[in-house]
Amino acid sequence: MLNQKIEEAFNQQINAELYSAYLYLSMAAYCESINLPGFALWLKVQTQEEITHGLRLYNFINDRNGRVRLTAIGAPPKEWAGPQNAFEEAYKHEQMVTGLINSLMDLADQERDHTSSVFLQWFVNEQVEEEANTLKVVQKLKLAKDNSSAILMLDQEMGTRTFVMDPLLGPTVGFGGAGAGAGA
Ligand code: FEO
Repeated sequence: MLNQKIEEAFNQQINAELYSAYLYLSMAAYCESINLPGFALWLKVQTQEEITHGLRLYNFINDRNGRVRLTAIGAPPKEWAGPQNAFEEAYKHEQMVTGLINSLMDLADQERDHTSSVFLQWFVNEQVEEEANTLKVVQKLKLAKDNSSAILMLDQEMGTRTFVMDPLLGPTVGFGGAGAGAGA
């Protein structure tokens, strides 16, 4: 059974993950509008990943006999000054999410909820990758500067990203019931 503080904090984190999905989908739409379909595809894959992060929390709350309560998702920005600016903002956003995960970990420790601490460890590791991935794109865009050939090549590279379904969420959409979060 989840204690109430943890349940509320995990519900807030579902909202943060779904906001992340919304933010990256908005960045994808921006990249489509400036004719960078590869960047847009990369961001749409990121959107799918963020939804699976939310689903991991959703399944965990249910598996621990808690109650998922969804709340309104804020409107993301719609415009950026260019792809570099968008990815700088994505990197900043991931740093902010790392802070949220660290606070959840602190709460789980404070509440002596070891199951939640173990569960959150996956998110702690995932955030290393999330920050590294967005920073790598920022660094490449800095190298490309205003060289349109380099940006178009980068756009092609970004367009090769594929979405890999989280194995703990099941083979398709990850809406599996009780036990899905435990790999059943
Ligand atoms: Fe769900 Fe990008 O962290």
